[in-house]
Amino acid sequence: MASKKVFIRGIGSYLPERVLTNRDLEAMVDTSDEWIVTRTGIRERHIAAEDEFTSDMATQAARRALGDAKMSPQEVDCILVCSVTFDMAFPATACIVQKNLEISTCPCMDIEAGCSALVYCMEVAAGLLQLGSYKNILVIASDKLTSITDWQDRSTCVLFGDGASAMVLSTDASGARAVLVDTLLRADGKGGDILFQPGGGSRHPASEETVKNRLHYLKMNGREVFKIAVRGMGISLKDILSRNQIELADVQHFIPHQANMRIIEAVAEASAIPVEKFIVILHRTGNMSAGSAGVAFDEAYRQGRFAQNDLLMFATFGGGMTFGTALVRWLI
Ligand SMILES: CC(C)(COP(=O)(O)OP(=O)(O)OC[C@H]1O[C@@H](n2cnc3c(N)ncnc32)[C@H](O)[C@@H]1OP(=O)(O)O)[C@@H](O)C(=O)NCCC(=O)NCCS
Repeated sequence: MASKKVFIRGIGSYLPERVLTNRDLEAMVDTSDEWIVTRTGIRERHIAAEDEFTSDMATQAARRALGDAKMSPQEVDCILVCSVTFDMAFPATACIVQKNLEISTCPCMDIEAGCSALVYCMEVAAGLLQLGSYKNILVIASDKLTSITDWQDRSTCVLFGDGASAMVLSTDASGARAVLVDTLLRADGKGGDILFQPGGGSRHPASEETVKNRLHYLKMNGREVFKIAVRGMGISLKDILSRNQIELADVQHFIPHQANMRIIEAVAEASAIPVEKFIVILHRTGNMSAGSAGVAFDEAYRQGRFAQNDLLMFATFGGGMTFGTALVRWLI
């Protein structure tokens, strides 16, 4: 990472109020609490209200991160929002968040990199900060995954939930919670057809046909995603450690994408990491796509799980396929 340091000044997250349990799902599709818990570790997930959108959750998380940083929205000079469920194709959800926060004129943009997008945004924000044109960038990951969930497909609908997380990244060290050590991004477009939402874009614009064929819902080959996720996360975590000359044992906390407990256990086993080092919230949240790792980060922070000088590693994977890995040093 280039010379100018990038700090995390504020952290926040938001989960919608309504909770959908595995028992509730038993009444909706042919599944069981036992199957879902054994195969995924998920017990319940939060579901956004019908009139609560990705931008609303993003705004709530952003307000909490700004509160944590003791900053007014006017101090923000750029907003990045990542999601796979933006409010609409355009305008950018980041622009809607800007309006909600009553910030004027700062640049706003959306970034899509599947469930790895939080780390992608962190790297983009760090790069912009290091160019020197910005001082405080709001990085927000928010997903209303239930808006593209096929509630008739038991192989996917049991996995997902809604939520948002936010961070203020800054070149200003005052009150900083943590400093970014490094980020490592990867993608493999050959994996694009194992996790995707086919309908609604230029390839399959909305039509009676796309609706009839349920193309506006998320499609997934779970087994393939599982294998690629475990392999890709393992490679990325080794590579980021080796290029920073850091030993695995020197990382105190791993903050993984919250998709499946079995994926986390497989990564832990393959890399010989004690599973207790992984921060896990998926049993209460399901997979919130880009929002996932940031919500886990915020909750662990608020529970006081990080000590001064602890090294934290974000390890994410998502549709694309994409991988985002970040090292963060806790400062307080
Ligand atoms: C989706 C996932 C939990 C499925 O677990 P799995 O062990 O691979 O299960 P399979 O897909 O092989 O299905 C096993 C059986 O369970 C059945 N099944 C699938 N979903 C079910 C459900 N919700 N309830 C009950 N049975 C279910 C299947 O129909 C299959 O039955 P069959 O053997 O009679 O054909 C797992 O593959 C996974 O987590 N993959 C990664 C997904 C992911 O992380 N996605 C997000 C990426 S960001």
